[in-house]
Amino acid sequence: MENSQLSRGQFLKQLGLSSGALMAFYCLGTVTACTSSNEEPSPTGTNNSGNNTGGNTSTKVDFTLDLTTADFSKLKTEGNYVYKDKIIVANIKGGTFVALSKACTHEGTDVQYRLSQNDFFCPNHGSEFSTTGAVEKSPAAKALTLYKTELDSSGNKLRVFEG
Ligand code: FES
Repeated sequence: MENSQLSRGQFLKQLGLSSGALMAFYCLGTVTACTSSNEEPSPTGTNNSGNNTGGNTSTKVDFTLDLTTADFSKLKTEGNYVYKDKIIVANIKGGTFVALSKACTHEGTDVQYRLSQNDFFCPNHGSEFSTTGAVEKSPAAKALTLYKTELDSSGNKLRVFEG
């Protein structure tokens, strides 16, 4: 028996066939020996499912303060302000609302609203900002970011958002 197999292999070698061709040739005669060798799923390791690149870092500011709650009811009074996340929201002179980034652009200290000056003041090194966030006094050199505010018809829900 071995002789016949060897002779067949030698015969094929003489024909110069590759090993793949040899397999194909053998498959013609012995089907059972070849069924698994040709089924290569080859997933190649590039599974993209669930591959969240995390590139969506631009989460826009958009929240609503409930002015009936203990945390925010003080905003109903002119001159008062609250912090919410990275933002200062103030009821400024004249009774309108202003929302600015709270971190002083000098070294990041939280700014405060001053009704008497109608401005935003940094207690750390004395920078001052207008009610639109513009620098009025150094050492800060860059404006605060201004956000939009919108009070609903009930006067109790104040939305702060990026335009
Ligand atoms: S951190 Fe505000 S003036 Fe320096």
